[in-house]
Amino acid sequence: MNSALLSEIKTTGDLPQHVAIIMDGNGRWAKDRMLPRSLGHRAGMKSVRESVEGCIEAGVEILTLFAFSQENWSRPDSEIGALMAVLVEFINRELKDLKRNGVEVSALGDLDRLGPKSRAAVDKLVRETAGGSNLNLNLCISYSSRFELARAAKLLAQEVADGVLRPEDIDEAAVENRLYTARWPDPDLLIRTSGEQRISNFLLWQLAYTEIYVTPVLWPDFTRTDLFEAIADFQRRERRYGRVPT
Ligand code: FPP
Repeated sequence: MNSALLSEIKTTGDLPQHVAIIMDGNGRWAKDRMLPRSLGHRAGMKSVRESVEGCIEAGVEILTLFAFSQENWSRPDSEIGALMAVLVEFINRELKDLKRNGVEVSALGDLDRLGPKSRAAVDKLVRETAGGSNLNLNLCISYSSRFELARAAKLLAQEVADGVLRPEDIDEAAVENRLYTARWPDPDLLIRTSGEQRISNFLLWQLAYTEIYVTPVLWPDFTRTDLFEAIADFQRRERRYGRVPT
């Protein structure tokens, strides 16, 4: 743990309130070691713990992790099975510590596509961590941003059809309120591991003014020091939201 870096980011101030992470590179990490891809995903669990604990130490309030995309359903059945097994194992292993650390978990995505075992584990995780007040951890599972936006449009259309909403009342706030992320402010910082410079159908609406930080580190190698480095980099940026510098 890099305590000098941690105290530096804490004294600098202007912490990101909400950090989102595209956890990428598990497969390459495994390939580099001539291991099956499933072991890359398993190794990625440690980095999830590092990120959660790092956010709590730094004072980040919301952490949103892209755990499984809707596009991931097109991977071979064996890999989907491995990813779901890792999710269930993570929940069984971490639930106690998440509760002890005051982490409230939400699951964002089309959860109806999950199998019964993983759905039950996710529901239990959400239920049993409710009320945690140190960190809001959002796990995006079976999540795709375009699906989320189409879903919001469908909800709005239904309300108009039901006569409870007028088309002229549909503004940005109306859309935002129907996204999975309605409870949260937009991410301040997006971290993507493994060097890929893509958004990959993640939080397309919410990332409008998010600062993006890409690190070459593969997800299973990502530690809280890498998180603190991303936060320090964020603190050196000037956010203008389309305006001129003050
Ligand atoms: C991308 O790596 C990562 C994923 C598809 C899944 C992320 C899942 C975890 C880190 C498992 C633990 C998560 C939780 C929340 C328990 P990739 O397979 O696309 O890697 P590659 O691009 O190197 O092939």
